[in-house]
Amino acid sequence: MKFQVDGAVAIVTGASSGIGWHLCRQLVQGGAVVIAVARREQRLLQLREEIANDSDRFQFVVGDVTDAAVRGRAMELANRLGDGRLDLIVNNAGVGAIGPFELASEERLRRIMEVNFFAPCEWTRAALPLLHRGRNSVICNVSSVLGHRAVPDKSEYCASKFALHGWSDSLRAELASSGIQVTLVSPSTTSSEFFDSVIDTQAGVKSKSVGSWTPERVARSTLAAIVARRSEVILSLGGKALVYADRIAPSLVNFVVQR
Ligand SMILES: NC(=O)c1ccc[n+]([C@@H]2O[C@H](COP(=O)([O-])OP(=O)(O)OC[C@H]3O[C@@H](n4cnc5c(N)ncnc54)[C@H](OP(=O)(O)O)[C@@H]3O)[C@@H](O)[C@H]2O)c1
Repeated sequence: MKFQVDGAVAIVTGASSGIGWHLCRQLVQGGAVVIAVARREQRLLQLREEIANDSDRFQFVVGDVTDAAVRGRAMELANRLGDGRLDLIVNNAGVGAIGPFELASEERLRRIMEVNFFAPCEWTRAALPLLHRGRNSVICNVSSVLGHRAVPDKSEYCASKFALHGWSDSLRAELASSGIQVTLVSPSTTSSEFFDSVIDTQAGVKSKSVGSWTPERVARSTLAAIVARRSEVILSLGGKALVYADRIAPSLVNFVVQR
């Protein structure tokens, strides 16, 4: 049974730029009611302007995903708009950090884990009572190829996405009999604002990734995975090559990554 976008009630975190921004647009265009979440209110107002024709189906909550009060406001709104039901939650908000673990602070590790891992868990916990009343409900967790294969200088980020991956697999099995699907989406490098907002990273330090998808394309593939109620998708060819090479020949990939 496919997920039906038209008429669905959805929460999307990290909606003020990049993948989340485009996903909100595409969901609203498809007929969904969307509750968008992010800290930058101006950006969310801009997004509402962009989807002006359908703006009555676009609502937002401004705040930090790690704040329980923000989560509570979003759930209340979803409960009201969906009349007790929620069909989709997309845990997309995320942050990165670049640089050796040894030189980084404890705060950096804790912040990355709070935003990228603990927040998706707690948003999902809060959403589950509503999702149980949804139509073919989906929990979509936006991870990364770095949640399948770790690389140097992104240790905290990789750890957070590995945690999201493991938790998603476990939750999917737990929820299988309820009909709620957990869809884990793993993009590769995406040309969003992501690298402008890395935490506690020296100016001028760049990610070494090659090739990238636009956030619009990542959002489109994410939506396709949600509609098909897939368990897991690795989006780019390069991402698939890295993940499958690591499964077949981990020592070889270790050698390449160390260089
Ligand atoms: N870009 C890549 O290369 C790449 C690759 C693989 C996976 N991903 C994953 O894709 C997801 C989306 O990233 P993106 O590329 O679209 O980056 P982006 O353009 O930087 O978007 C990140 C979004 O998350 C929100 N956000 C960050 N911290 C937040 C917080 N504490 N509370 C609320 N919202 C928060 C930001 O909004 P505010 O700043 O307004 O709060 C923004 O809307 C992330 O989970 C990321 O890990 C990205």
